This record gives sequence, structure tokens and C-alpha cells, in this order.
Amino acid sequence: MERLPGFRDFYPEPLPHTDVWSCDARQYIFEKWRTTAKRYGFREYDGPPLEPLDLFTTKSGGEIVGQLYNFKDKGDREVSLRPEMTPTLARMVAAHERNYKKPIKWFAIPQLFRYERQQKGRLREHFQFNADLVGETDPAADAELIALLIDTLRAFGLTAEDFVIRLSSRNAWQDFFKHGGGDTAHEYNFFQIIDKLERTAPEESEKKLAAMGFSRAAINAFIEQGEPTAELKYILNNLAARGLRDFVKIDYQVIRGLAYYTGVVFEAFDRKGEFRAIAGGGRYDNLVKLISGDKVNLPALGFGMGDVVLLELLKARGLLPKFDATTDVFVLVEDEALRPVSLKLVHDLRAAGYAVEYPLTPAKPDKQFKRAQDLKVAYTARMDSDSYVRIRNLKTREEVVAGVSDAANHLD
Ligand code: HAM
Repeated sequence: MERLPGFRDFYPEPLPHTDVWSCDARQYIFEKWRTTAKRYGFREYDGPPLEPLDLFTTKSGGEIVGQLYNFKDKGDREVSLRPEMTPTLARMVAAHERNYKKPIKWFAIPQLFRYERQQKGRLREHFQFNADLVGETDPAADAELIALLIDTLRAFGLTAEDFVIRLSSRNAWQDFFKHGGGDTAHEYNFFQIIDKLERTAPEESEKKLAAMGFSRAAINAFIEQGEPTAELKYILNNLAARGLRDFVKIDYQVIRGLAYYTGVVFEAFDRKGEFRAIAGGGRYDNLVKLISGDKVNLPALGFGMGDVVLLELLKARGLLPKFDATTDVFVLVEDEALRPVSLKLVHDLRAAGYAVEYPLTPAKPDKQFKRAQDLKVAYTARMDSDSYVRIRNLKTREEVVAGVSDAANHLD
């Protein structure tokens, strides 16, 4: 039985094959995401992986809706695996926002599912770090969130030479579209063309733009000029005050594909342009209102960072640590008569917080020792009698004999 295309198997290191993924690397990434989010005062939340289909068809926009893993459940409900977290967050916030002081700062690490065409950096399932801030319209919130995005990537050892945040604004594009005589009904279509400029054949984009009354030359001039709006200027200054100015640039080529964005938008890319977007986000001031059926009106903004491109980038820059098994102590059982007291020792050391291994069944001493070495343990421990244990530090080769209740005091 093969796994489905675009889905992944995560194995412990060392990896048995090149087409499987590392569960250790995944854990490493999750841990950095969590600790950085917490440093910024974000709290963790989660929601269901399966949601009513409507939640995603309401306002995500055509592209993501075409990629849904949706079906009818046994109760005849139209449901879908979540392709993104933002609609779930909006639903959860709308339901209980009164219980939380504003601004609400929340993060999550959901597994998401999109039936995408498989390509480098894009799979049909990925984990995505989401950080969102709800209840604040001031661009200070945008700057705070972008600072978190930058610091999250820096936590992995990436620098301003490795990545850049391309900062843009849908407001700026809205003005451009309006002044160019665009019809508001087609605004989202126009945004979609801009979003795909870099990935579409020039003639094709040109034709579509011309049909809306825009020339590629005018678009290029607007992008090249890249004059920051007042809001963007504020964000640049705010980030400069933190010493983070080198990590951002104004780039109106970014506009984001999802329909719900309303203001500042941004994407993180590797500087060399080798990979797909590492992260993307922006303001979505109307989504909570829309999803709550006009009951709750809260401005919001956030970003999502996937694990796939991030891992590719960390690998390419040699920034992944070596993942070894993390057993501290191997308890040798050389005399089967001492197995019961050895089991007690194993149990006590584990209770004291050490990772402990031992032979489940009788085995020759040299085999046991070889296993301890393979596990790269720091110590072996062997019961000498019912009450004394011999502890050996494998690095220094020092050996001590201790009372069994005192064993943990002889370990680092
Ligand atoms: P998104 O741009 O669709 O935004 O996804 C954010 C990031 O998730 C991308 O930059 C990429 O790293 C990763 N990603 C997306 N699709 C895939 C895929 N098929 N395979 C691997 N990685 C992928 C959103 O999802 C927004 N909901 C983010 C957001 C949160 N906006 C506001 N709050």
C-alpha cells in the first residue's frame, strides 16, 4: 500500500530513505514556532480539522475553494478538511470574543489540506504556523506581527541575507485600480492577475489586464515606483526602531491570493529567489464580521508559515541541527536474578526525568553494551546487588557505586 501523492511519512532520524520526512526536524520546527510566539505574548489555540464546507467557500476566494478536500459526511453534511486556519480562527473569535481582552494574540500549528498540483515546496498536506492579532486597527499591530514573523525565522539562524519580507498594501492597489477606472465588481479578479504576474506568461497577463483597461506598462511603473503609503511608512519606521529594517522591503508585486485581505499584506521569501513563499499574511478587517453574520465586528491580521519551504531552506543553508536519539541512561541487566530490582531502577530514573532504556528480554552483556553505545547514552547503570548500582559515565569512563535510592544524584 502506497501513501497518497502529496502526503508525507515522518520517520525518526536517521532517515531510512530520501523520500520520507524527519519527525525530529518537524518537532524542532514546532518548538521554535511555539517559543517565539510565546515570547511575543501569543497564546495557543486549535480547532477541528474538519469544518462545514461553507466556512471556506464564504470568503477565501476561488483558488483555495478549487483545492478543497470536501465531501458529504454520513449525516449528509457538506464538510471539508481545513485548507487554512483563518476562517476557523474568525469563527472561534466571533463565538467567544467577549471572554478575551483585546487585542487577542493567538497562534496555532494546524495540519492543512489542499488538493494542489504537486510541485517543489507545495504538497497536499502541510503544517502551518499561524499567528493572528484581533481587535486592533493601528498599524502598530501590523508592525508587531511582522516583527514576530522576522524573529521566528531568525530563531532558526536565518539572517537578513537569507530572507526578506516583501511588504505591500491592498489599499494602494485599490487606489490604483480605482484611479485607473477599474470596475469594483472586478477588483478581486484584478488582484488575482497581479498575484500571479510572477508565475504567468507575460502575454497571458497582458491580455487579461488589457481586458480590464490596464496596461502592463502602467502596472510595472506602479510596482517599480513602490512609493510606500502612510501606513507602510509607519510600519517601516516601527521596524527600524527595533533594528529590523534590513529584513523588509516595499514590493507591490505582492498582493496575496486570498480574497479576504483588506489592507497591508506581506510575504516572506528567500533572498536568492530559489523557493516558493516561506510565509504570507496581512490584514483582514471584514472576515470576523462576515463569518459571524454581522454579529461581531473586529479588525484582524495574521500570517501563516508552512513547514515545507522552511525545511527546504534550512536544509539548503545548513541550519538544521543533527538529530540524535536522546536516551540518557542504559540499564544493563546481566544477572536475570536482578531483573526485578533493575526494573525498579529503570522506573525510578524515568520518574526522576531521565530517558532510560534496558533490554526487554535476556541478552548477552556485549550485545547490551553495543545497544547502549548505538543509543549514544551518557551513562550505563547496572545493579550490583539488590541495593547497590554501578553507574558508568561513558565519556569520562568514571565509575561509581551508589545506593540505589541515590542513583539519580550521580547523573548530570
Ligand atoms: P497562504 O499564503 O495560503 O496563507 O499560506 C501561507 C504559507 O503556507 C505559504 O507561504 C506556504 O509557506 C505555506 N503553504 C501554503 N500552501 C502550501 C502547500 N500546499 N504546501 C506546502 N506549504 C504550503 C494562508 O493560508 C493564510 N490563511 C495565512 C494567514 C493567517 N493570513 C492571516 N492569518
